[in-house]
Amino acid sequence: MVTRAASRRVCVVGAGPAGLVATKTLTAAGLEVDCLEMSTAIGGQWVIDNPNGRSAAYASLETNTTKAMSRLSDFSMPADWPAFPGHALVRKWFESYVDSFGFRDRIRLGCEVTAAHPQPGGGWRVQTRDAEGRETEQGYDAVVAASGNYWAPRMPALAGDLDGPVLHAQAYRDPDTPFPVSGRRVVVVGIGNTGCELACEIANAGAEAVFLSARSGTWILPKRRDGRPAAEGAPMMNPSDAVPGLLRALPDRWRQRMFERVGERRFKKMMGDRMKRFEQLGLPRAPASPFSKRPSVCDPLLPALESGAVVARPEVARLDGKHVVFRDGIREAADLVLCATGYHLRYPYLPESLVDTRDDDLRVFCGTVHPSRHDLFIVGVSRPTGAFWPIAEVQSRLVAALLSGRYALPRQPTIDRSSRPIFDRPSFNPALYALSIDEELRRGARRSHR
Ligand SMILES: Cc1cc2nc3c(=O)[nH]c(=O)nc-3n(C[C@H](O)[C@H](O)[C@H](O)COP(=O)(O)OP(=O)(O)OC[C@H]3O[C@@H](n4cnc5c(N)ncnc54)[C@H](O)[C@@H]3O)c2cc1C
Ligand SMILES: NC(=O)c1ccc[n+]([C@@H]2O[C@H](COP(=O)([O-])OP(=O)(O)OC[C@H]3O[C@@H](n4cnc5c(N)ncnc54)[C@H](OP(=O)(O)O)[C@@H]3O)[C@@H](O)[C@H]2O)c1
Repeated sequence: MVTRAASRRVCVVGAGPAGLVATKTLTAAGLEVDCLEMSTAIGGQWVIDNPNGRSAAYASLETNTTKAMSRLSDFSMPADWPAFPGHALVRKWFESYVDSFGFRDRIRLGCEVTAAHPQPGGGWRVQTRDAEGRETEQGYDAVVAASGNYWAPRMPALAGDLDGPVLHAQAYRDPDTPFPVSGRRVVVVGIGNTGCELACEIANAGAEAVFLSARSGTWILPKRRDGRPAAEGAPMMNPSDAVPGLLRALPDRWRQRMFERVGERRFKKMMGDRMKRFEQLGLPRAPASPFSKRPSVCDPLLPALESGAVVARPEVARLDGKHVVFRDGIREAADLVLCATGYHLRYPYLPESLVDTRDDDLRVFCGTVHPSRHDLFIVGVSRPTGAFWPIAEVQSRLVAALLSGRYALPRQPTIDRSSRPIFDRPSFNPALYALSIDEELRRGARRSHR
């Protein structure tokens, strides 16, 4: 497997935030990068109505991570932008990132990667199709899969039929598109960020009734407090944030545990009553630790539940013509079911024998390196207690060091032992992740000199 400077030509799949950050970081490290993007636009999720048909952005979408949490190591959003910028500003920011670092010539738009074939002994043959349907094939030393993980809608298997649309939230744009909600009875399934936000928006848009169906609980944190971002000033929310010396001195796995123990205590003290109120209002009890599952961040849900504008319901048992029947036997008349039930993790262009995501997860080394194919990298997929883009930057730093020969991987048994699922683990802290990668880079730099 290739671990040294031999890997020079890199194919980055996707020009969403992760692909852009990877392209910039790898290009800066002297690697020759082709960033192949199926859409006619860069920015992935942040391009509303993206021609790729994969963006879940809706008109009112703004980030739930603050500008400070979302900043990259050398690129921040302008000071006069709102703390939680809307989708159009995020798109603009990534456009200006490309221009500021001058790598637009590395991006090929309208170029879909249809298959990437690993070659014996290292390297890849990458097949592409352009907008006119022309197919080409090209050789690369490495592939960076930055094609996103929120594009393949996960629809629940709902028994029965509804006399009305059953849609996935990916299709939702505004209260009139694709289905006017005013005066209608709507069931929203799922209490991730999407379900919480859309239930409130639909209630606000004059729906006759909104039922929010949850099969399990989650922490629902406030986004703002006294008009300021609730997470403002919280420590270690970005990879560039300092890690206190006390934590730094601990072994990697202890740091995360210590961070969680302290964090748990604070969250319970600050949010315990709020979470009890959600439970009293009918949502399932949240897990004991706010770190065991990605929390939702939503301000209007609590008042909406209190006022009855949104009514909590358990899991859907079945659809029955003009009604939805819930697990507790309650039957509600409904015109529309909107499934905010998340997404499958999928890489259709990679061989399933290598990248098997049937259980919507994947084991990787250091959050990015394929454990057996060291010239394949997954960038942009993580579950941070912060923003995704700076995590993609840390992942890209490791990839760049490996492919430019400044870092050597440990021996295979160590890689096998340390590779972990991306999702089936407690959420990880951005600053602690960056620290662990910096330490690994130092170890790998020593190995590369041996
Ligand atoms: C509704 C919503 C809100 C979010 N809010 C936040 C937030 O506030 N903060 C935050 O940090 N994160 C947020 N996220 C997470 C979000 O996924 C990331 O912000 C970011 O968009 C991920 O970037 P990405 O490049 O990995 O994926 P994407 O943005 O999905 O981009 C992937 C790109 O790859 C391209 N592509 C895919 N397959 C191929 C192929 N075969 N060939 C060529 N090109 C291909 C796609 O066209 C796309 O342009 C949100 C996600 C959603 C769905
Ligand atoms: N403002 C913002 O910035 C914003 C807005 C929306 C989304 N996002 C981001 O976008 C990403 C996707 O969020 P998401 O909310 O769309 O998806 P998600 O976080 O995966 O949440 C999916 C929800 O659907 C539930 N669910 C899944 N399958 C189900 C089934 N078969 N039956 C019933 N319920 C089911 C899940 O319940 P379980 O917990 O029981 O599995 C969970 O509550 C996240 O990173 C999120 O932070 C951000």
